[in-house]
Amino acid sequence: MFALLFLLPLAVTAFTPLPPPQLFSTLIPQKLLATAQLTPGIPSTYPQYTTRDTGAWLQFGPNTWTTGFFPATLYAMYERAALCPKSLGRTSAAQWLELGRTSSTGEIFLEPHNTLQHDVGFVSFPFVEELGVNPQNTTAITAVNMFASDLAARFSPIVGCTRSWDSADPTDFQVIIDNMMNLEVLFVSANLTGNDTLRQIAISHADKTMQNHVRADGSSFHVVDYNSTTGIVIDQRTSQGYSNSSTWSRGQAWGIYGFANMYKNVGLQRHLDTARRMAAYFIDHMPSDGIVPWDFNAPLDPPRPADSSAAMIATNGLLLLAQQEQSLSPPNITGAKYYNEQAIKILTDTTFAFWKPQWQSLLSNGTVNNPQLNNLTGIVYGDYYFVRAGNELVKSGLAKCDFFTFSNLIDVIFG
Ligand SMILES: *[C@@H]1O[C@H](CO)[C@@H](O)[C@H](O)[C@H]1NC(C)=O
Ligand SMILES: *[C@@H]1O[C@H](CO)[C@@H](O)[C@H](O)[C@H]1NC(C)=O
Ligand SMILES: *[C@@H]1O[C@H](CO)[C@@H](O)[C@H](O)[C@H]1NC(C)=O
Ligand SMILES: *[C@@H]1O[C@H](CO)[C@@H](O)[C@H](O)[C@H]1NC(C)=O
Ligand SMILES: *[C@@H]1O[C@H](CO)[C@@H](O)[C@H](O)[C@H]1NC(C)=O
Ligand SMILES: *[C@@H]1O[C@H](CO)[C@@H](O)[C@H](O)[C@H]1NC(C)=O
Ligand SMILES: *[C@@H]1O[C@H](CO)[C@@H](O)[C@H](O)[C@H]1NC(C)=O
Ligand SMILES: *[C@@H]1O[C@H](CO)[C@@H](O)[C@H](O)[C@H]1NC(C)=O
Repeated sequence: MFALLFLLPLAVTAFTPLPPPQLFSTLIPQKLLATAQLTPGIPSTYPQYTTRDTGAWLQFGPNTWTTGFFPATLYAMYERAALCPKSLGRTSAAQWLELGRTSSTGEIFLEPHNTLQHDVGFVSFPFVEELGVNPQNTTAITAVNMFASDLAARFSPIVGCTRSWDSADPTDFQVIIDNMMNLEVLFVSANLTGNDTLRQIAISHADKTMQNHVRADGSSFHVVDYNSTTGIVIDQRTSQGYSNSSTWSRGQAWGIYGFANMYKNVGLQRHLDTARRMAAYFIDHMPSDGIVPWDFNAPLDPPRPADSSAAMIATNGLLLLAQQEQSLSPPNITGAKYYNEQAIKILTDTTFAFWKPQWQSLLSNGTVNNPQLNNLTGIVYGDYYFVRAGNELVKSGLAKCDFFTFSNLIDVIFG
């Protein structure tokens, strides 16, 4: 009888493997609440990464590219409250919404002036979440439109991209693969305002990135330098990777997500194909231990640091790609199933290795920037994409939040 009780739920998920149970642990609300309470009220600092030894959050001022991830995680917990009411511990839905709103309020002063360059897209995430809750919220509408117009102002029609990083020589126009993630704010603002120029900028940027960052084998350069006067590519190289010709895993993960998201927003086949090629490279270059290295080409000796954040971004990118395969008509069932399985495999192996109950972060073994010797930490965007992965899996029916509790087992079998 007991054997039967355990086997039946496995059958329910058809052949897709079960995600790791930590995904819905009550340690998640406990830790996130404790992190929010480190900066009560409207925060003047935000967590970015932890110390290496004790896993304690290090706090940064709001004018930092990672600021939006913690408030966006609080909004993701609000979403989770509706999806998984039993995984909230002693917290409530209303509390997470209140925390998300209060936390994101500390970003508002950045609207008229910031030095975030292309990263205005990342800091807009919590306001995009707010619009999902309250589409009429004028504070969030203004934030999205202002950040989008900041990014649009960095577009060069000669180069065909938005400029990622400013440089001492203004004719050196630097674009990084990460910039793909910041295009979402253009689509959200285009929806709000009806301004199609924002969509055209995003499409142009993605097309150029597809041509000049993504290599023939689906791998990617971190940085491409264009000449802003001529539009010509003058260098293809790395900043955070192992070498100029290597593939930095987080960049590759941003690319999978970014191109899948382009297909979701615009529906162009070439962007779907690019997401598939980047996904294939990532999956085919996973080492046998299932641990995502900080750079796919970094040597094994001395042991190369992992990047759990790259693993979490890739997980979400693959889940988004699976949704795009599913959205085709007829749906690409084989493709969707393959990407879902690969996403769950990366998620499971990473969680098994790096779930860290004793740290303030959820996961350990993130690499912020290895050339700057910043590795082996918890990272706020790793944790954000971990929580998001749980929500996405529940929404697509691939996980049940309370799967591992007895009451849920009964529910699955008899419910
Ligand atoms: C609108 O959103 C902002 C921050 O995003 C929040 O502070 C505010 O409480 C929200 N207002 C309403 C009416 O929902
Ligand atoms: C559309 O957005 C672009 C880029 O921000 C801006 O230059 C243009 O003025 C906007 N058009 C309208 C009609 O607001
Ligand atoms: C870009 O091209 C212009 C015109 O040829 C040249 O003057 C400038 O030095 C170039 N910039 C870079 C960064 O190569
Ligand atoms: C834009 O609006 C359309 C139609 O309502 C919606 O399907 C889409 O998700 C929206 N996109 C964004 C990025 O908000
Ligand atoms: C990339 O190439 C430049 C120019 O040759 C060089 O200075 C730099 O050290 C290289 N970067 C790496 C990580 O090898
Ligand atoms: C389904 O997805 C797989 C993986 O991306 C791809 O190789 C295949 O061509 C897709 N099939 C169709 C009909 O689009
Ligand atoms: C993870 O980090 C710990 C230190 O916090 C380190 O000892 C361990 O080797 C790392 N594991 C991997 C697989 O990189
Ligand atoms: C990780 O960072 C430490 C310093 O914090 C550095 O000494 C070490 O070389 C880095 N690890 C590798 C394998 O690059």
